[in-house]
Amino acid sequence: MVMTLCAFAGVASAQTHPTGAEVASIGRGRVLAEENCARCHAIGESGESTHPGAPAFRTLSSRYPVADIAEAFAEGVRVGHPDMPEFQFQPRQIDDLINYLQSIQRPQH
Ligand code: HEC
Repeated sequence: MVMTLCAFAGVASAQTHPTGAEVASIGRGRVLAEENCARCHAIGESGESTHPGAPAFRTLSSRYPVADIAEAFAEGVRVGHPDMPEFQFQPRQIDDLINYLQSIQRPQH
């Protein structure tokens, strides 16, 4: 029985969970968000933004595809932030941030 459960869990995790590389990227993205964004935005799966008007990151995909944000950052666009400092991210950091953002989006309905 234990063997069966383990085998089942292995298959399930291979299909539904990100790869090790993705998990590492998501982890780095979370750190970036904590360091650069958390003082205004709610960056996690729950909680409210501290800055009035700053959308919680988990709700971003209800406004537009999260991948579009990557483009905006890559082009140095300051995605409509009145109070937001200008961020200079490396392409790799943008990937990490976007992977993180994607990992916390609420399921669409
Ligand atoms: C100093 C406060 C502040 C910081 C720091 C900040 N933001 Fe924002 N952000 C805002 C506010 C306020 C808005 C809402 C702006 C609006 O709707 O005009 C916003 C909106 C956004 C939006 C939605 C833009 C749109 O057009 O709907 C995105 C995406 C975003 N922020 C990403 C980030 C990311 C990623 C970081 C960290 C790298 C970050 N923000 C850091 C204040 C901040």
